[in-house]
Amino acid sequence: MTQHFDIHALRAQFPACENPDWVYLDSAATAQKPRAVIDAISDFYASPLANVHRGQHQASLTATEKFEQARRDVAAFIDAKPNEIIWTRGATESINLLAYSLSQHFTAQDEILVSEMEHHANLIPWQLVCERTGATLVKIPCCPHTGQLDLHAYQQALNTHTRIVAVSHVSNVTGTRHPIEKMTAMAHRYGAIVIVDGAQGVIHDPISMAELDADFYVFSGHKLYGPTGIGVLYGKQDSLAALPAFHGGGKMITDVSFEQHTLAPIPARFEAGTPNAAGAIGLAAAIQWLTQYDLRAIDAHLSTCYQALVEGLKQRPAIQLICPQPHSTMVSFVVDGEHHADIAELLGQQNIAVRSGHHCAHPFIKALNVEGTVRVSLGAYNSQEDIDRFLTALDKTLYLLGV
Ligand code: ALA
Repeated sequence: MTQHFDIHALRAQFPACENPDWVYLDSAATAQKPRAVIDAISDFYASPLANVHRGQHQASLTATEKFEQARRDVAAFIDAKPNEIIWTRGATESINLLAYSLSQHFTAQDEILVSEMEHHANLIPWQLVCERTGATLVKIPCCPHTGQLDLHAYQQALNTHTRIVAVSHVSNVTGTRHPIEKMTAMAHRYGAIVIVDGAQGVIHDPISMAELDADFYVFSGHKLYGPTGIGVLYGKQDSLAALPAFHGGGKMITDVSFEQHTLAPIPARFEAGTPNAAGAIGLAAAIQWLTQYDLRAIDAHLSTCYQALVEGLKQRPAIQLICPQPHSTMVSFVVDGEHHADIAELLGQQNIAVRSGHHCAHPFIKALNVEGTVRVSLGAYNSQEDIDRFLTALDKTLYLLGV
């Protein structure tokens, strides 16, 4: 039995949703923030403020306790251990950290498998590694008709030279959910390290690091109703402990002489310098806010909205859906003969916010054989009325374009 879900009560917690004339359908780019998150950040700054892990006075001890409680909250949310959570600026920085640290001893013999469907954040860092080390970048291709990865080609590509498999949990273009457990098990047979970009995967469904079994999983706070500028690098304890340091500086060491240093244990080893404590506390507030709900109830609500959205789009003959997924919170489409940016602009003029373009996934967009798409993505605060208003505005857009 799922909890009764009151969308109006939920929406009321988002200051941005107070404007009745504005329909936000771009949550895959960033989510609106509930009052609880805004308050947690402003309380942190309004209370006597001190740096974390750097003082014996009460303000510093209190800040440190809040900061470390945030780490424990994030760990519990993804079924991990607190010292497996490294704070970063976002998913992009997490992947760059991994790319730098994991590739220290890569050579021209090594191969890095990256899915064709990746966001640039999970592609370009690996291109840079290949440029620097001579390692080979190998594509896991996708099917342009289903928007699914080709697992047969993946199996063929895996071999004993494969060092890394880098794949998103959920595509930010089509919302495709990749079979991470299966892909991880396949990669581990060859001793490869699996890195999952969870920026879109962590948002709606409960996830368990223990079940996924990936070596590393990264995400950003701002798509999870939390603040910008805070992200997470999850790594299995042993994987993190074996990883060379990334940034050098304060608090990532236990001892320093003029010539050398001794690294601190994880997670401090990867958190040089003053951390974004307000961001971490804001992200923990977002998780507390979200988990007060039965996530299955939010999921059921979003499923209803998503079905209405996809059905509505299908009823309009000019619309070509791009690999719609049966269970998702986003959908991409194109209009024959019309530029995606024109559609998004005309929707924007009617106060409907969607994203258009290549969605920082050029290779996937090219594989789909389109120039770009219009993407509609949902957040927990979206309602059936939002979908209706979007479809009405879309009709007006098509009319204005003479479609
Ligand atoms: N990666 C974000 C998106 O897909 C910004 O829109």
